[in-house]
Amino acid sequence: MKLGSLELASPFILSPMESVSDAAHRRLCWSLGAGFTWTEMIRARGLVRNNKSTIDLIDSFDGDVPTGVQLMVVNEVELEEALTNLDTLAASTHPHFKNLRAVDLNFGCPSPEVIKIGAGPALLKRKNKLRAIFEVLRAWKGRTSLPIGAVTAKIRLGLNRPEMDQKVYLPIVELANELLDGLTVHARHAREESSTPAHWEAIAEVKARATIPIIGNGDVMSLDSAQRLLQHCDGVMIARGAIRSPWIFRELTGRGSGQPTLAELDAAESEWRRRATELNSKPKFFEWHAEGFNRMRARLSGKPMTGADLPATEHMR
Ligand SMILES: Cc1cc2nc3c(=O)[nH]c(=O)nc-3n(C[C@H](O)[C@H](O)[C@H](O)COP(=O)(O)O)c2cc1C
Repeated sequence: MKLGSLELASPFILSPMESVSDAAHRRLCWSLGAGFTWTEMIRARGLVRNNKSTIDLIDSFDGDVPTGVQLMVVNEVELEEALTNLDTLAASTHPHFKNLRAVDLNFGCPSPEVIKIGAGPALLKRKNKLRAIFEVLRAWKGRTSLPIGAVTAKIRLGLNRPEMDQKVYLPIVELANELLDGLTVHARHAREESSTPAHWEAIAEVKARATIPIIGNGDVMSLDSAQRLLQHCDGVMIARGAIRSPWIFRELTGRGSGQPTLAELDAAESEWRRRATELNSKPKFFEWHAEGFNRMRARLSGKPMTGADLPATEHMR
C-alpha cells in the first residue's frame, strides 16, 4: 500500500493508542507485520509550550520502524506553532525526532476535555476550520526538513448520532482529497462505545468518493474481519486486536498464527522490556504492557481470567 510517498510493507496499520503505543511496542508490532505505526495522540498545545512530558511521547528513536506522530489540535494557529517547534526540536537537541515519517491529526478523541475546547470530533462539522488546519499541515509538509512522506487525518463519523445521520464525514473526504495523503475512518460517532458495531458501510461510502487511500478502522480482530473490511478500503487500522495479541499482524500478513507460543511470548516480553528500559519509556507503558503480557500468558496457558479479555483501563479515542 502507498501512503503519500511511503511504501508500506503491508496495509495493516497499528493504531495510535494512548498508554500503549510506545516505541518498544511499535517495534514488536512492526516486526510481526504492521505496515505502519503511530505514536499515541499528542496534544499540540504541549508541543507549543515545550512541555517535557508531551515531547517525551514523540519517541521515534527507532529508524527501522515506520512511525508517524498523531497530533490533537484546536485550530490552525496552534498547529502551525506546534509543527514549527517540531522542526526546531528535530534540528537541535532531540535527534530522535528525525525518524518521523508522517503526521496525523486526531478528530476522533471522545474525551469531554477535548470536546469542551472545540478539538477532536467537535471539529468534524466545521468545514472551513478543517480546511484551514489541513492547509497548514500541507504547507508544512512542503517545507519541513523532516522526512515526512504523508500527512493524514483520523476521523469519526460525527460528534453524535445527528451529525452521523447528516453525514458530516462526507465533505471531509473532498477536503482530504485536495490536501491530505490519506484518511482513516473510525466508523463510529464520538458518543458510541466500542461495544457498538462499527458502521463499515460508511467506510465504503467514503471510499467511493476518495481519490486518496482510505484506511478503515473499527472491529478488526481477525484475518476474516480484516479481509472483509479490506473489500471496502485500502488499508486497515487495528487497535484492540493488537492489544489482545500483537501477533494479529503475523496472521494478517500470512506469516503464521495470530497467537504466539508461550516461548515466543516470553521472548517478546523480555525484548519489549529491554527496549522500553533502554528508551526510557514512561511508567504508564510498563504498567499497561505488564498487564497485557500477563493476560496473553493466562489465555495461552488456559488459566481462568477475571474480567474482560482486555486491560481494564481500555478506552477509545
Ligand atoms: C487503549 C486505547 C487507546 C487509544 N488511544 C487513541 C489515540 O491516542 N488516538 C487515536 O486516534 N485513537 C485512539 N484509540 C482508538 C483506536 O485508535 C481505534 O480508533 C478504536 O479502538 C477502534 O479500533 P479497534 O476496533 O481496532 O479497537 C485508542 C483505543 C484504545 C483501546
